[in-house]
Amino acid sequence: MTVKRGKILSFANPKGGVGKSTLSCLVTAMLKWTNSYNSVQLIDADKQGSSISLLQRISDNIPCSHYPISYEYDKLNVILLEQLMNNCRMQTGNVLVIDTPARPDQEGIELLTKSHAIIIPCSNTLAELPITLDFVKKIDDLKARIKKIHPHIVVIPNKIHLNRKHIDDFIKYFDNHDVVIGPPIHDSAFIRKVYTKQYDYKKIAQETIFSDLTNVVNFLKKYVIDEELDEIYRVDKAYKDENITNLRT
Ligand SMILES: Nc1ncnc2c1ncn2[C@@H]1O[C@H](COP(=O)(O)OP(=O)(O)OP(=O)(O)O)[C@@H](O)[C@H]1O
Ligand SMILES: [Mg+2]
Repeated sequence: MTVKRGKILSFANPKGGVGKSTLSCLVTAMLKWTNSYNSVQLIDADKQGSSISLLQRISDNIPCSHYPISYEYDKLNVILLEQLMNNCRMQTGNVLVIDTPARPDQEGIELLTKSHAIIIPCSNTLAELPITLDFVKKIDDLKARIKKIHPHIVVIPNKIHLNRKHIDDFIKYFDNHDVVIGPPIHDSAFIRKVYTKQYDYKKIAQETIFSDLTNVVNFLKKYVIDEELDEIYRVDKAYKDENITNLRT
């Protein structure tokens, strides 16, 4: 199925090591493997460039460029990246995935808000939940200020232990915010190895974690790329307009 407008999905979280690079690469590759889109590409906006090398190792035919935005002298990249996002948005069937750096500055955060959705990997640990919540609040406030439903904020529970019930932790944490909680990705030895071994589609598809990744990709396709979340928010907005109350606290 082709999409209406180009979509930009930014993987972000100011906390380092939550899974932004790993998940943005795997999701980009899996979106490409569905053959559903005219173009799927990845931008690595982190100076480390780790997602470029990972993506090239798991698939050699997905366009991937490096626009690090974390330093003062990278301001030109912010401008170039914004142009690229605008171009992507105007073309039907395009998907642009952006892997963003930890601790982005204000300019970086403002650039992120031009995405269709911000995908936030986060584990249910106290090392990651509070920082993630602060980030969600910041994005939520920016959205409220500019009165936009975009970017959608999608939290992807990551590194979840297999037998641990995780959903209550996330609901408790993000309850008062405009956040959608996606399917979880479990803690996986494969994900730890993916940077060091040679993998391709056939090998990845045999891994147990593949079903988790497939759930996340299907979720992003349905709710973000095929615009079901837009529809839900439009209905919700009409409801709010009719019922006077602003449910946002
Ligand atoms: N579901 C998972 N199971 C096991 N290990 C994981 C999982 N997700 C990520 N990791 C591991 O966590 C580490 C950090 O992941 P990654 O580099 O993707 O995080 P990041 O958010 O991009 O970090 P940075 O902010 O430094 O760019 C990597 O070693 C990766 O293999
Ligand atoms: Mg990274």
